Amino acid sequence: MFVRFEDFNLAYADRGRGTPLLLIHGFPLNHSMWNQQLEALADRAHMVAPDLRGHGDSGSPPGVYTMERLAEDCKALLDALAITEPVVVCGHSMGGYVALAFQRLYPERLAGLILASTRASEDTPEGKAARDQTAEKAQAEGAAAIKQGMLSKLLAPQTYEDRPELVARVAELMSPTSVEGIAGAALGMKERPDARPGLPDVRVPALIVHGEDDQIIPLEAAEEMATAIPKARLEVIPRAGHMPNLEQPGAFNRAVNEFFEELA
Ligand code: MLT
Repeated sequence: MFVRFEDFNLAYADRGRGTPLLLIHGFPLNHSMWNQQLEALADRAHMVAPDLRGHGDSGSPPGVYTMERLAEDCKALLDALAITEPVVVCGHSMGGYVALAFQRLYPERLAGLILASTRASEDTPEGKAARDQTAEKAQAEGAAAIKQGMLSKLLAPQTYEDRPELVARVAELMSPTSVEGIAGAALGMKERPDARPGLPDVRVPALIVHGEDDQIIPLEAAEEMATAIPKARLEVIPRAGHMPNLEQPGAFNRAVNEFFEELA
């Protein structure tokens, strides 16, 4: 399904009944990364899962995709679907940066936060330089060069050994992302502010989920958010890397289900 925005069409999936749950994917993925949640949680939540601009089947307008801009797109999608009640926002990695931007911009629209495989800090100077390189490389060599580099880090070391079909699935998930999407999102992530000073002001309950063997974002980043957000709980998923919802969907879905029970 699509909604038409001023400068592009935004693709999204809409599934299930219950409290609204906005599922925001990471970089450079798309809403299909949530397929096992869209399936398993359909009796629990009304899930809306966009393809962020430049990703999946959404259009790729030019420009820098700041996390605020992506959060505005998510809010505009909720408005277009006439979802006005507070929503649980679940963001994975870059989607977590977008979820934190959504929390800063629209606290009144938030019922709960699920921060999966993400962090609240800004990029280090080296990290910012790497964002520029990512954007330049995508523009010079094409999107495949970046996707190949990401593919070697997204999963736990053990997952690469044991589950080649999952590695192939993750490669497939990245395939539609455009050069504009990669460059726009990389430069947008580079600009994101340090969200840590605002964490004590997060008023809603938060579930922090992190794979024990994440090779992209260290577990300490999740522990830091769980300590700073007043009503937060940390769930560490064993035998999972940066994609716990795909590597251990049963454990991930159980954690989300329990969080919804606590919210109710
Ligand atoms: C992601 O998985 O969304 C990105 O790797 C996050 C990042 O690069 O900071």
